[in-house]
Amino acid sequence: MKSKIAITLLILMTLMPVHAQENIWDETEAQKRERLAWWTHDRFGMFIHWGLYALPARHEWVRNRERIPNEDYEKYFEQFNPDLYDPNEWAKMAKAAGMKYAVITTKHHEGFTLFDSKFTDYKAINTTYGKDLLKEWVDAFRALDIKIGFYYSLIDWHHPHFTIDRIHPLRQDSDKGYAKLNKGRDMGKYREYLHNQVREILTKYGKVDILWLDFSYPGKHGKDREDWGSMELLKMVRGLQPGIIVNNRADLEGVNGGGDFVTPEQFKVPEWPTINDKKVFWETCQTFSGSWGYHRDENTWKNIKQLLVLLIETVSKGGNLLLNVGPTARGVFDQRAQNSLNNMGDWMKFNSRSIYGCTQAPNEFKAPPNTLLTYNRKTNRLYVHLLDYPLQNFVMKGMKDKIKYAQFLHDASEIKISKPYGHAFDFKMGANDVNLSLPVIKPDMEIPVIELILH
Ligand code: GLC
Repeated sequence: MKSKIAITLLILMTLMPVHAQENIWDETEAQKRERLAWWTHDRFGMFIHWGLYALPARHEWVRNRERIPNEDYEKYFEQFNPDLYDPNEWAKMAKAAGMKYAVITTKHHEGFTLFDSKFTDYKAINTTYGKDLLKEWVDAFRALDIKIGFYYSLIDWHHPHFTIDRIHPLRQDSDKGYAKLNKGRDMGKYREYLHNQVREILTKYGKVDILWLDFSYPGKHGKDREDWGSMELLKMVRGLQPGIIVNNRADLEGVNGGGDFVTPEQFKVPEWPTINDKKVFWETCQTFSGSWGYHRDENTWKNIKQLLVLLIETVSKGGNLLLNVGPTARGVFDQRAQNSLNNMGDWMKFNSRSIYGCTQAPNEFKAPPNTLLTYNRKTNRLYVHLLDYPLQNFVMKGMKDKIKYAQFLHDASEIKISKPYGHAFDFKMGANDVNLSLPVIKPDMEIPVIELILH
């Protein structure tokens, strides 16, 4: 009987399709954690979207939105001349804001490259400006010890062999229309171009810390891993730069080594993102206003409190924040971006200890109302971010035996642990609750932070 069952099972197993785990490389979880260690420690990076779209100055998707063909976009290439470009200034501003890494668009969907490429004429070095913008950028950021990331758009609306699809400026309403326009276009040739350019950026600029590929949209008149040749691409990337950290937009979900972190965009996750119930590495990318590229008339700029909450909340859920600047066509960060960066820097200067090296607090610590918690495992310190400044008494439940010492982070001034002050008629503290006595006046910090040194 038993052997019959075994044989049936065996037959069934051979009939079942085998889904071999696809592999770009073998890496244990511990090795991955180690490879990403600097990134999970640093938490805060600068995204930079810069290209010809800075000239129309009305969103980097302007070609898509206004259905602009190559001929009509040519004028921006002719006019491009960022005479005030000084990446040393950019690097200084990133550094002062507390950003530890930076990711720049080496090529966006429009197809124009900031770097010098053997495979195209559509590049900064062929404009009036006449220089490899990426080279100068890399040198400047590296000089200030900021880690280097390259965004490269898988999409290319300029390349003659990139087939017209549903997000292309020349998109069509019918299958017939697509067939007509795509006659003579050969995605294979584009694929080769894309691989060649990625090889260029990963071989000509020394060590690259991050590669940010963007993006896939499978389905009808879309593009997926077959179009990009993602498996071969990622194998090449890992071969050229074994230490590199790569995002997840090449349509390789489920492939070992296909992407290192997930990328919720312009979206606040409700909790630490998971795949198959397992917490994953994640980075949210966000803009100061609605657009990634410089947008002159865009007015929905987040205020400093929103920006700080974005950063703190991200770390409180175990993630990274990549915050974007879209430089102007003269090559500078506009005043609004500079103000936001300055404000973030003012806060980070005194409070970055609650960001770097921090993560979600263990479950045993419950965030009091109107606060966000972060936690540093190494130092065993808990950070309580006061989003809405409390009135003198600040009760933390179940924390009495856990706190060794409490202070404000920004000035290291002691916060006394004492009985609640006032007539708390109906309020009974639990045996293991603790009250921190805060000054009436809110410290001069947008979001004050209490640092708890734990037993
Ligand atoms: C989107 C957009 C793009 C932007 C990117 C940043 O995928 O296509 O314009 O570069 O998000 O994450």
